[in-house]
Amino acid sequence: MLELRQVTAAEFEEWVRVEARAYGNRLNADPEMLRPHFDLDRSIAVLDDGQIVGGAHSHRQRVSIPGGESDIAGVANIAVQPTHRRQGIMTWMMNHQLKDVYERGEPLAGLFASESVIYGRFGYGVGSLREEWAIERAYSGYARRYECPGRFAFINPEDIGRVLPEVFLRSTAGRPGVFQKAPHLWEREAAAPEHRQGGRGGTFYVGYYEGDRMEGYARYRTNEGTVTVQELMAVSQEAVAALWRFCFDTDLVNRAEAERRPVDDPLPWMLADPRRLRRSTRDGLWLRLVDVAAALTQRQYAEEGRLVIEVKDDVCPWNATRFELQASTEESVCRSTEAAPDLAVTVAALASTYLGTVTFTTLAHAGLVEEKKAGALDRANRMFAVQQRPWTPCGF
Ligand SMILES: CC(C)(COP(=O)(O)OP(=O)(O)OC[C@H]1O[C@@H](n2cnc3c(N)ncnc32)[C@H](O)[C@@H]1OP(=O)(O)O)[C@@H](O)C(=O)NCCC(=O)NCCS
Repeated sequence: MLELRQVTAAEFEEWVRVEARAYGNRLNADPEMLRPHFDLDRSIAVLDDGQIVGGAHSHRQRVSIPGGESDIAGVANIAVQPTHRRQGIMTWMMNHQLKDVYERGEPLAGLFASESVIYGRFGYGVGSLREEWAIERAYSGYARRYECPGRFAFINPEDIGRVLPEVFLRSTAGRPGVFQKAPHLWEREAAAPEHRQGGRGGTFYVGYYEGDRMEGYARYRTNEGTVTVQELMAVSQEAVAALWRFCFDTDLVNRAEAERRPVDDPLPWMLADPRRLRRSTRDGLWLRLVDVAAALTQRQYAEEGRLVIEVKDDVCPWNATRFELQASTEESVCRSTEAAPDLAVTVAALASTYLGTVTFTTLAHAGLVEEKKAGALDRANRMFAVQQRPWTPCGF
């Protein structure tokens, strides 16, 4: 007999073990260290004859959206044991969770997918993209003559949580799709064994300063002649140029790789020989508009305008209706209507336009948006336009 319910405090450890088993991972962290970061009433499990066989979790987060911030349910720990797969257990949990998130009043849900085939069926769309890079050091020169105006200093692990959050915050100002790292994530980074080991394969944090002010930092590792830039956050154009130069010019390195870069990163435009930078793009954040009316109301728009959007949503019936969006560069209103639609969209497609990752026109060409009245696509594109492309440099 299968049953879906919240886990109890006594079941927490078993629930964490089931998740590790589902991912084929060892349980590296002590469950007692994880416990404070889980809301038990949002930790659900499916049990078979009293044994946990699957689980899912969500917790309230804040994410940046065009013109501000939103509550978002951070969805994680979706797992079903290999003994019970493809019997609809995940589907049961996802449907239950979306209703729960709606009832909690969180207009959005977001997750990072282990495989990109999984979550579209639940109305999640690609909310932000990321790039991975590789370049040979010999081809990493800038097109313009470069002299570094500032200085560098390494950051000690014990200072990470004190000095870096503020730089991370400033470097992501105005960028949609960003989660600020919670204090425990900074602490976990500071305590990471790769950091403490140092040496080959160790993790290093270097800060770039102008005067006494840190204007950016890079987290990187070097191994086997490759420097891997795991995180590079820069507040100013000088900091961008200085930190990449620092990473590329590290001794004993002939190749650089970078993880999780934004698609509008300036670095490719700074290189003298940009074709040498190998770039691959993949999904970053998966976003779900759990409450379409609330989500569209709280977003800021680049242009005033009215749009009637017919939404197709097979999972959340409260969204499967027509919405009239009266958008403004300040306060906007979105409510359900009987009026004739300008556009018809799937809820997943709407999620991909929400932060500005893709235009309505591109999705229309992909068959995911239908223009019901001439000119509606152009208008929607202009209204939803953003200055900085969505980026999700870290998880939650
Ligand atoms: C991914 C996972 C949670 C799916 O659980 P599940 O209970 O088997 O999923 P369901 O039975 O509800 O599947 C629903 C649908 O999704 C499809 N699906 C689920 N996982 C899939 C996968 N990894 N690849 C392709 N299709 C998948 C199923 O085939 C099914 O399709 P159908 O409706 O057309 O029959 C489970 O396989 C798992 O724990 N995997 C390892 C951990 C993991 O990757 N978790 C996701 C973290 S983001």
